[in-house]
Amino acid sequence: MFGGLGFITVTLILACCKDISGQSLGFGKCPSYPAMKKLDLRKFEGKWYEVERSFYMMEMFASCTSLNFTATPSGTLKVIVKHINRLSGNPSVSLGTALPVTSGGAELNYRGDTRLPSAVARMMPGSGVYRVLDTDYDNYAILWSCSNLGIMHADLIWVLGRDRELPVQARASVYNRLSELKLDSDRLVLTRQKSCPVF
Ligand SMILES: *[C@@H]1O[C@H](CO)[C@@H](O)[C@H](O)[C@H]1NC(C)=O
Repeated sequence: MFGGLGFITVTLILACCKDISGQSLGFGKCPSYPAMKKLDLRKFEGKWYEVERSFYMMEMFASCTSLNFTATPSGTLKVIVKHINRLSGNPSVSLGTALPVTSGGAELNYRGDTRLPSAVARMMPGSGVYRVLDTDYDNYAILWSCSNLGIMHADLIWVLGRDRELPVQARASVYNRLSELKLDSDRLVLTRQKSCPVF
């Protein structure tokens, strides 16, 4: 019992402090990184793997994360997110919908599919507005999300790849783009995509 509590406390403390260094808390409101002018949902659809991301507490114990986007006739993306829980080894699948904030735009409002009332669903981890900062559709995509927390903000970066590892050229493009945008690539950590089961 106490062992369990101790574990939780230690986890929270670790999460707190790493969170502050890795998730990039900043003063003021969210900066406004430009999304791509247009996002072609048809070209964006299909399977992506999470290759790198900035530290995110909710995902600390997730590995082998993949996302499968399917464009719908109504102009939204159905999203299937799969990962393996690193503690239990169990697979987890969640479903959601991403709606472009403006038609054809690269800012996507993501909600998990849930029976919860929408006010609660908005508070669920993962829900929020994601910007596609760049993608070549065939190799890589850079996603960015930011939350205003009163006088501070916290932002997150994800790098997705069509394969579990980015080809060298694509990785160079991603890092160039991040440096053009003045997003610190030191914040990125490789995510675990080794020995992943097919599920
Ligand atoms: C992605 O999801 C769609 C819809 O469920 C499915 O038909 C398709 O096979 C999936 N693609 C991959 C690569 O898993």
